Amino acid sequence: MNPALTRFGEQMSHLTGVRAIMKDIIETLQAGQGREFINLSAGNPVILPEVEQLWRDCTAELLASSDYGEVVCRYGSSQGYQPLIEAIRDDFNRRYGLSLTDRNILITPGSQSIYFYAANAFGGYTANGQLKRIVLPLSPDYTGYGGVSLVKEALVSYKPTLDIDAANHQFKYRPDFSQLEIDENVGCVIFSRPCNPTGNVLSDTEVRQIAALAETYNIPVLVDSAYAPPFPALNFTEMTPIFGPNILHCLSLSKAGLPGERIGVAIGPEPLIRVLESFQTNLCIHSSRYGQAIAARAIASGALGEIAANVVRPHYQKKFDVVDATLHEAMPKDVPWFLHRGEGAIFAWLWFQDLPMTDWELYQEIKRSGVIVVPGEPFFPGLQGEWRHAKQCIRVSLTATDDEIATGMRHLAQTIEQVYQKMPVC
Ligand SMILES: Cc1ncc(COP(=O)(O)O)c(C=O)c1O
Repeated sequence: MNPALTRFGEQMSHLTGVRAIMKDIIETLQAGQGREFINLSAGNPVILPEVEQLWRDCTAELLASSDYGEVVCRYGSSQGYQPLIEAIRDDFNRRYGLSLTDRNILITPGSQSIYFYAANAFGGYTANGQLKRIVLPLSPDYTGYGGVSLVKEALVSYKPTLDIDAANHQFKYRPDFSQLEIDENVGCVIFSRPCNPTGNVLSDTEVRQIAALAETYNIPVLVDSAYAPPFPALNFTEMTPIFGPNILHCLSLSKAGLPGERIGVAIGPEPLIRVLESFQTNLCIHSSRYGQAIAARAIASGALGEIAANVVRPHYQKKFDVVDATLHEAMPKDVPWFLHRGEGAIFAWLWFQDLPMTDWELYQEIKRSGVIVVPGEPFFPGLQGEWRHAKQCIRVSLTATDDEIATGMRHLAQTIEQVYQKMPVC
């Protein structure tokens, strides 16, 4: 059967971004015929023993408690499981000196759903036909934003400026405020901080500047804090969560070890939370209550924040150091390669200036050496016009072992040497 699809059906029945590349990666791994690949493409967090134990303990506590039936045998409120809302409210008020009430918090089935609700509640066509854009102020950013809007043309992103430290093969993206347009035609702004794929952390000043531009027009700003403190605390540089009258601070428990339970949290002004809550009621009623109940225990006891800062963060930070050190030791000296400053998240991002092929072709070459990375282009959703840089980058996952990462980076260095040697001399 092949039913006719609506515009929305057409839009939503295609895989976007990295999901489409993952298909190629899975086929490569399956067709490997005994060949062992080093897989540096994964976005799934590592199962760290301390983290798994925490969730086991919280589950045992839940099973033994009189709440168990109430949690799993009954529907709950769309806003979320009350003890989890209270745990987050108290934790954030204490850590950041806020005065959040329950009405400032919404629990969602994963944080991806928050971006879907917001992109379609605030972006797209208004009742009088005006197109409200969904602005990603700094491209590249999370590939998952590419599929969140039911109105494809609503998504726009902006080229950044580059701080380049050529001597150290290092660079950093910064928002280009001279290009960024936030005006009455914008419905909402979204960015990740720390950023997937680059590990970039926008400075507090940059976040405040974006929020101030948006506040002038009453525009919500969603700060995707999937890697931010207090959990999973995957920031390797100091950063302060920023709150404000138009900011929706969005958490995810996925990188704190609970991706299978789908727990996201939006924290922000009550009128914005109310819009998202209704969207959620219409869509799926509420998030899994089992996941919410174990998260409530882990947050209220302080254990999640502690494990995030003392186990999760150092684990990935060390992996980034392995990438950095191995590349500096193995990369050919005369190739203009640049590693994005490792400020957080679970990825390293590499830019090869003047790369004599596309990122997709480079991904294929690297695959031939037995290593799988992710080509960079899907991380530029919403970018208008051609930008060569967007086809010169790759993402390397920090979820493999030290040995795999070091070996993978050495193979990558050899591939890069060959690729640049083949470059025609002008
Ligand atoms: C930046 C960013 N935002 C959101 C998500 C989605 O996370 P969740 O599992 O909470 O839906 C991810 C997942 O990888 C991510 O990297």
